[in-house]
This record gives sequence, structure tokens and C-alpha cells, in this order.
Amino acid sequence: MLNFAMETAREAGNILLEKFGRKIEISKKGEINLVTEADLASEKFIVDKIKTYYPRHSILAEESGEAVLSGEGTWKWIIDPLDGTTNFAHGYPCFCVNIALEHEGRIVLAVTYDPTRDEMFSAEKGRGASLNNKRISVSETAKLGDSLLVTGFPYDISERPHFAKDFANMLLASRAVRRDGSAAIDLAYVACGRFDGFWEEGLNPWDVAAGVLLIEEAGGKVSNYDGSEFSVYRPPICASNGIIHSEILGVLS
Ligand code: IPD
Ligand code: CA
Ligand code: CA
Repeated sequence: MLNFAMETAREAGNILLEKFGRKIEISKKGEINLVTEADLASEKFIVDKIKTYYPRHSILAEESGEAVLSGEGTWKWIIDPLDGTTNFAHGYPCFCVNIALEHEGRIVLAVTYDPTRDEMFSAEKGRGASLNNKRISVSETAKLGDSLLVTGFPYDISERPHFAKDFANMLLASRAVRRDGSAAIDLAYVACGRFDGFWEEGLNPWDVAAGVLLIEEAGGKVSNYDGSEFSVYRPPICASNGIIHSEILGVLS
């Protein structure tokens, strides 16, 4: 199934690349939350392919929601057909296809594919995480003060006034903070050690399901802001190399 997921993500990524930088249809799901014809085309491709190869599996996909959930329930594909839609719509090359598979409530397979860099991040529960089939691991950065962090701004940021305070505190406590506009790529980069930690609130299962497994299989740690066990259905998320985890939580508390 990992090969199926990687192949599907690569094909969906090619659909995105074909539309990237061209004039495409864009509409609004919210004040600053966009959906483009690329999101829809990628999702249709992925959902159709899963229905063909795994007709008894459930599917949770961002643009179709739970509506396509029709399977037996023990296997569920969780899909973000285009993570980084705002970047995509503005021609900023930072976006990806995100596919995870949940089995009996646990994420067992993860794929994050960045078509602009041809980077395929993948993981299977208990079998490690890879980038383009080479084993990856989280960074060894030992102190928050030496860390490069990344975060994202939720679409309903105007209703989250404390977010700016967390952001400022993290800026002061770390070496630097980045904001790249794709939570899935942020998490994949924590998994391969490019970033040391990530935090964000208000994310959805399709944004984080793959990244959580990538990070855990790469030796990192994922939790809620209070340190409790993370569920993809219950944001917020704090993810790190594990070593600086409690220091990040300390800033967020
Ligand atoms: C968004 C991106 C972004 C994050 C938002 C997400 P989308 O997903 O992951 O980095 O800050 O909260 O909703 O809309 O591009 O799929
Ligand atoms: Ca997303
Ligand atoms: Ca999306």
C-alpha cells in the first residue's frame, strides 16, 4: 500500500505542476481560505484511484469532507490534495500532496510529496521514515535557543488573539522562526531535520496525519500544547526533534 500511496501522490503532484503558474479558477471557502481547480482535480484523481483499488476503504478528503466516507471503517485514507493552496494561487512554489492511511484509529502509512522539488517523504508504522527512499531522522539540536522553528497561521487567526503572543515568545526563545504556508511540508521538514520544531493551532486531520507519522518514525515527538497525547482530530499540535520538546511546550504554556 505504501507504493500505491507514493505513486498516487506523485501522479497527483504532476496534476498540480501542470496547473502551477497558469491562470486557474480560484474561489473562496472563507475570507482568506481559497480553493482552486488544482485542489479539486488532485482530490478527484486521488479519491477515484482509491475507490478503484481499495473500494472497501473509507476516505476523508479535505474538499469532499466525510461525504465520501463509505467504506467499512477500519481503513481510512486521509487526504489533503494540495497543502499550501494560498502559496499555489500566488505562484509561490511551496505546496504538496498529503496522503495518510489510518487503520483501527492509528496512522500506519504516510506520504508527503513536494512536486516542485521532487521530494517524496514516506513512512510506515514501525518501519522508519524516508525521503526519496533514503532513511531520515530528526535533528540533534539540543537547545531551543539554537533551534530553527516553523509555524503556520490559521485561517481564523483574527479569532485567535493569543497567537501573536505565542509567535513573539517563540521568536525570542529560538534562533529563528519560519512560516512557509504548508503545514504538511513543515512537518516533513521536522522529520528530516531541516526544522527542529513546529507548532500550530486549528489544523485539520488532512494537514497533519502524514506528518505526525513521519516525525514519530524519524525519532521525533508530537503532542498537544499541554504535552498530552496527540490525535489528528484534536489540535493544536506541537512537534519537534523530541530533545527541545519540553522547552517549546514551556513557551506555549
Ligand atoms: C493550510 C496550510 C497552512 C496552514 C493552514 C492550513 P491548505 O492548508 O497547511 O500552512 O497554516 O492552517 O489550513 O488550506 O493550504 O490546504
Ligand atoms: Ca492543508
Ligand atoms: Ca488543502
